[in-house]
Amino acid sequence: MEKKIYVLPGDGIGPEIVSQAVKVIKAIDIAFDHKFELKNGLIGASSIRDNGEPITQEAIDVAKLADGVLLGAIGEPEFDNDPTIKVRPEQGLLKLRKSLNLYTNIRPVSMYDILKDISPLKNENLKGVDLVVYRELTGGIYFGEKKLSADENSASDLCSYSKEEITRIAKMAFEAAVQRSNKLTLVDKANVLETSRLWRRVVQEMASEFPGVEVDYLYVDNAAMQMVVNPAQFDVVLTENMFGDIISDLSSVLTGSLGMLPSASIGDSCAMFEPCHGSYPQAAGKDVANPMATILSVAMMYDHFKLFKEAKAIRDAVNWALKENIVTEDITSDSPSRCSVVGDLIAHYIEEGGNVSLNKDYMKEAMNTVI
Ligand code: IPM
Ligand code: MG
Repeated sequence: MEKKIYVLPGDGIGPEIVSQAVKVIKAIDIAFDHKFELKNGLIGASSIRDNGEPITQEAIDVAKLADGVLLGAIGEPEFDNDPTIKVRPEQGLLKLRKSLNLYTNIRPVSMYDILKDISPLKNENLKGVDLVVYRELTGGIYFGEKKLSADENSASDLCSYSKEEITRIAKMAFEAAVQRSNKLTLVDKANVLETSRLWRRVVQEMASEFPGVEVDYLYVDNAAMQMVVNPAQFDVVLTENMFGDIISDLSSVLTGSLGMLPSASIGDSCAMFEPCHGSYPQAAGKDVANPMATILSVAMMYDHFKLFKEAKAIRDAVNWALKENIVTEDITSDSPSRCSVVGDLIAHYIEEGGNVSLNKDYMKEAMNTVI
C-alpha cells in the first residue's frame, strides 16, 4: 500500500521520539511491502523561529492532502513562562486540529503487566483497567471567543458546543463501546454548565440507538476521583475538550508512565497521530525520552488504514521490548536504554517478523550506544 505521511516533529523531545516512530514505519514498509512516503514540516516553536508563526498555511495545506499526520510534541519553556507573549507554539497545534477538523481524539489506556509496579496505584486497584478516552478536540473553551479587557485586568474564554458537534463524536464513542465492553461514561459538569447539560441531552437521546450500551454520567470532579479509586469501572469515556485534556493525563499515569499513552485524532477526511505527553524540554536532545507513546500512535495510524496486522506487529514489538526491559529511564532505573536504542530494537524486531531471540552480540552492540 502507498500512503503519504506528513511528519511534524515539533519541539523539545519531539524530533527524537518521532525519529524512532519513523524507523518503525520504515520497518513496516520492509516487513509488509508497503511504500509510505514521508515528508517533514515545522510546527510549534521551531516554526515560530523559522517562519514567524507556529504553523504556516502551506504546512496546513500539505497536512490536508496527506493520508495521515504524525506529530511529536509542542512547546518550549520560554513561551510558557511569559503569559504576555502573543504568538505561542500551542496555537500551531490548535490551528492544525481545527483546520483538519479533527474532532475526535482517541486516547486508549492499556495496562502492561510489566509496568504495574511503577504505577502510582496499588496493584489490586489496577486489575481489569482497560479504557479509552474519547475527547472532543475542535470545540469548547479551547476555541471559544477569548477576551482581554483594555486595562488587561479581566479576561474570559467562551465555552460553546452545538448539538452537531456533540453528535458526531458521541456516535464514534458509542460505536467504540459496541466493539469493546458496551459501556460508555459521559464525563461533564451538568450540575453547573449549560454546555454540559446539552451534552447530556444529546447523549441521552442517542443512547436509544445503542440499546446494548450501558450509559452512565459522571461529573468531572467525581470522575477524576473515580479514575484513581476504581479505574476498572471505565470502558469508553466520552467528554468535551478541556475535561478530556485533564482526564486523559490523569488516566495515562495509571499505566505507570505518561510516556506510554498514544492518541489518534480523527475527522471526516483527515487523521493525525501523536503521543499525549508534552515536549519535555528538560530532556530535549539527551536521547532519554520514551518513544513508545509515539510508536504506539503509529500503530493507531495503521489501524486507521485498516492495516491491522501491521498495527499488531508494532504492538507485539513494544510488548517484547517491555518484557526484555528495553525501556527508557521513566520506566526503569536499572540500566535504562536510550530512546534511539528502543527505536532501533523495536524496528529490528518488526523487520525480522518477531524472530529475534535476543542475540547477545546484537544487544551488546546496541547497548554499547547506551553507555
Ligand atoms: C494535549 C496537549 C495539548 C492540549 C496542548 C499542547 C495544547 O496538552 O494534546 O493533550 O491541551 O490539547
Ligand atoms: Mg494534554
